[in-house]
Parts: sequence; C-alpha cells; structure tokens
Amino acid sequence: MDFEAFFKSELEGLHEEGRYRVFADLERRNGQFPRATRYTENGTQDVTVWCSNDYLGMGQNQVVVEAMKQAIDSCGAGAGGTRNISGTNHHHVLLEKELADLHGKESALIFTSGYISNWATLGTLGQKIPGLIIFSDALNHASMIEGIRYSKCPKVIWRHNDLQDLEAKLKAADPKAPKLIAFESVYSMDGDMAPIREICDLADKYGAMTYLDEVHAVGMYGPRGGGVAERDGLMDRVTIIEGTLGKAIGVMGGYITASTALCDFIRSFSSGFIFTTALPPALAAGAVASIRHLKSSQIERFAHQERVRRLRALLEARGIPHMDNPSHIVPVMVGDASKCKWISDILLDNFNVYVQPINYPTVPKKTERLRITPTPLHSNEDMDHLVSALHQLWSRCALARAVA
Ligand SMILES: Cc1ncc(COP(=O)(O)O)c(C=O)c1O
Repeated sequence: MDFEAFFKSELEGLHEEGRYRVFADLERRNGQFPRATRYTENGTQDVTVWCSNDYLGMGQNQVVVEAMKQAIDSCGAGAGGTRNISGTNHHHVLLEKELADLHGKESALIFTSGYISNWATLGTLGQKIPGLIIFSDALNHASMIEGIRYSKCPKVIWRHNDLQDLEAKLKAADPKAPKLIAFESVYSMDGDMAPIREICDLADKYGAMTYLDEVHAVGMYGPRGGGVAERDGLMDRVTIIEGTLGKAIGVMGGYITASTALCDFIRSFSSGFIFTTALPPALAAGAVASIRHLKSSQIERFAHQERVRRLRALLEARGIPHMDNPSHIVPVMVGDASKCKWISDILLDNFNVYVQPINYPTVPKKTERLRITPTPLHSNEDMDHLVSALHQLWSRCALARAVA
C-alpha cells in the first residue's frame, strides 16, 4: 500500500468537505488573560480570545501559578512513574482529598485528562460488571462514547435530555440486568442542561447507577464550585461525578468522585489509570490551589454570570441570533459552514478577535456557530468591540437578524 498517498487523499477529503482543522498559533500571556499573541507568517498580532474553556481565567490566577512554581521548585518537573510505580506524589493525594470533598463523596481518583477519566471509567465498568447495560444520552461527549464502545457492553442510546424516551428504554430492558445511566450536566455545544433530578428519580425507580459528566460545570456552578449537581442539592443522588481540571479549574487532568469501593475498583482494574505516568506534581498542586480558591470565593462565579448576561443583552440589542440556554456558553448561530469560517477568519485578521468556528460533525449541518465563552476578565470594551464586529459582519454576510 502507498501509505503516504492514502494519508494525503484522506486529508484531501477533509479539505473538500470544509472540515480540515486549522489551529490558531497562539501564545497566552500570563497575567493578561484573555489577551494572547498570535503568530502568523507575517509576524505577530495581539488578539483577544473569546472561545477559551479557561472559563474563569484560573489558568493565570496568581494563586494557581505560584502553587505550580513552588511545586516545581520542591518536586521537580515530572511525576517519575505511574501511580503504582513511584509516581504517586503527595500533591496527588491532597488533590484527591480536595476533589472528594468538593463533590461530597467518599473518594476521588485522578486521571491525566477528563477524556481519559470518562474513557477509563465507563470502559472498565462496562467490561467488568457482568451484564451491565449503559444508557447513554445521544449527545454525550466522544470520550464517554469511546469508553462505552471499548467496554463492548450492551448500550442503549436515549434521545438527548428526553426523560420519556429514557424511561421507555429502561422499562424495555431486562429488569434483572445491572444498569448505568451516563449523561452530562452542561452540554458544551448548545449549553443546555440535563434534568439531573428527574434522571436520578428514574435511576432509583429502575435500580440504575448514574454517571454525571460535570466537565463544563465544575468551578462555575454551586456555592463551592461543585457543579450543577451541587447547585441543585443533588450530589448525593449521583453515583459517580466526573470532571476535568483543564477548564474552569485552569490546569489539566481529569477525575471521578464516588464511593471508596468504586474508586478503588477503577484504580485496581482500569488500564487507562494503571498503565500511564501520573500527572506532574505541579499540575496537581495548581489544581488544589484553584479548587480551594473557588470553594471559598464567589467573586469569579458572580462576575462570570454577570458577563454572560451582559453579552447576551448586547447581542439581543443588535439582533444577533444566539441560542437561548441556562448556562455560560453563548452559541452565536450562523447556520452556514462557509460563512461561519469566513466570519471567524475576518474577526481574527481584521478585528483581533479569536473565536473558533464550530462546524459539522461537532454540530449538525446548518447549525454552524461561533461558540463564545465570556469570562470574568473580558471588559465592557472587549464586549462592545466583539458585538460591533459581529454586527458589521452579519450585515456583510446578509445573515438574518433575530427579532426581539
Ligand atoms: C463533556 C466533556 N467531557 C469530557 C471532556 C474531556 O475533558 P479534557 O479536556 O479534560 O480531556 C470534554 C472536553 O472538551 C467535554 O466537553
């Protein structure tokens, strides 16, 4: 086989479908978030980032940065091994305690990313629990889908956030089969939220475990940043809460929190946990500092919510259509792949505004969008500039306006 020709022709296919991904070459500037330097062939450019998942700017919070520096000074760079073979550092132990406390669970287990925590946990449960059926929301993240697929256990996909469909599917399954319902609290592309309480009610009724991905909620919802389940007083009703340290916490890594027996089970049987080098201690130390800060400070959360409300109001005033949802994610709807890409390019090149276009297959065709994520560190001037640029580009593309 001509491997090179194969790779090139596959990539050509992506180009033809307009799905080839181009990364913006950026350098984040510590202490200046959301400002970054963009590197281009013609030199550098100052840009304002409007699509970061560092939702609260904690990645440049000085408490977090200092904790990481200190941990590097005291422990060095890497962990030095897997958790089992010399890689467990005291900072990992502290982080797991912090996370268990955050979600009101007995224990926590950290992984190298949120992706791996979903993949490894669902994969291991599906493989190891005899006859387990996993009921998975249709819009679950790729990492959950891949974990379920890898486990080869029977899976049932229920219509997104549709309780009737979930119940019909639970009812139709063998009553004696062990069951697990897997879903997210905040869905990252539409910013909608799951009916967590009602899903837990169904889980109780049909004897199922629940697995809740709070990746887009940890740090931002609940009085201590425990996520939507904390905000709604539901943490004790969910069997496993999964999260990331890479978005609002501002660092990197993923985790689950659950009973001691369940965490120990995953720790003991999951290849995605066992056979990989542990997180660098400095990442764990930074995450501990960030979580502790967000447990006691509401300033970032309140400011974040205020910024989101202001941006939505400005967009509404200009008739720029954006998806109505109860979260901090503001999807500005373009509905056309090439216009979406064009607007994103012009925003970057001419207005110094960076928002990545979101196209198929991440979202369905004709729902292409700019996924905007305001943070507490975006100023009024930043927002006015963004909305004025969108207003101009909306006219140039002859895109429809929303009627108030
Ligand atoms: C819902 C959801 N779960 C899990 C992940 C993976 O988390 P991480 O980026 O820490 O790997 C993502 C990433 O965007 C996500 O959107």
